[in-house]
Amino acid sequence: MSRSPRQTVIAGNWKMYKTSATAKSYVDKLVPLVADAKPLVYLSVAFPLIPFLSQAAQGTNIVIGAQNMHDAEEGAFTGEVSSAMLNDAGAEFVILGHSERRHVFGETSLFVNQKVHRAIKEGLQPMVCIGETQQQREQGLTEKIVKEQLLESLDGITANQLETVIIAYEPVWAIGTGLTATPEQAQISHAFCRDVIRSAWGFEAADVLPILYGGSVKPDNVRHIMEQEDVDGVLVGGASLEADSFAQIVNYQTLKG
Ligand code: PGA
Repeated sequence: MSRSPRQTVIAGNWKMYKTSATAKSYVDKLVPLVADAKPLVYLSVAFPLIPFLSQAAQGTNIVIGAQNMHDAEEGAFTGEVSSAMLNDAGAEFVILGHSERRHVFGETSLFVNQKVHRAIKEGLQPMVCIGETQQQREQGLTEKIVKEQLLESLDGITANQLETVIIAYEPVWAIGTGLTATPEQAQISHAFCRDVIRSAWGFEAADVLPILYGGSVKPDNVRHIMEQEDVDGVLVGGASLEADSFAQIVNYQTLKG
């Protein structure tokens, strides 16, 4: 199988879990377990943990990021966090448009798009999440939804800017449910996303864009998912909460099965 120049990224998403004490024991354990890993190791954590973890990750191969941000530079937005604040805290990337933001907090692709522009301006790497619900899949709307979310979330982004972006395809029905897309289902959607990118931004942009799969990824299913040609990494929620299982996923190439 020919591999293009795309980076492999294994990203953990801690969501609203952990405090500084549990985060500390986690990184102490994780650092040696992933020190020789070939993929890039990303950890996306709650805002208050970013300053401590970005310090703790210095000199390691672990990259710390955030799970959301506001699109405005600054302003009267009680409870929100800006891209400059994330930068200041030590975040290097930010998840945008996670399905929990879209479906629990009502974020639209238009809002996500404004955030993507802001993140790029600030020098933060956006990890843009897209994916269909179970109902949309059953109605045969997967490609329509995924295409719309991609084109709207990335509207106005140049091919050059796209080089800093990561996409995470996360079927909503597979997130936190224990249901995983089959490797074949993941490959079909990933190849489709790449086609959409190719048509809109050209061959080169599509070729270097990492597209991660997310949705109930575990040590026992990661290998087959990662074998798919258009899967360039995974975004892991539940199984990233324990350093051991996250390290196994990072080191998936050495896992048996
Ligand atoms: P999960 O979450 O691995 O627990 O399904 C994935 C995600 O929400 O990014």
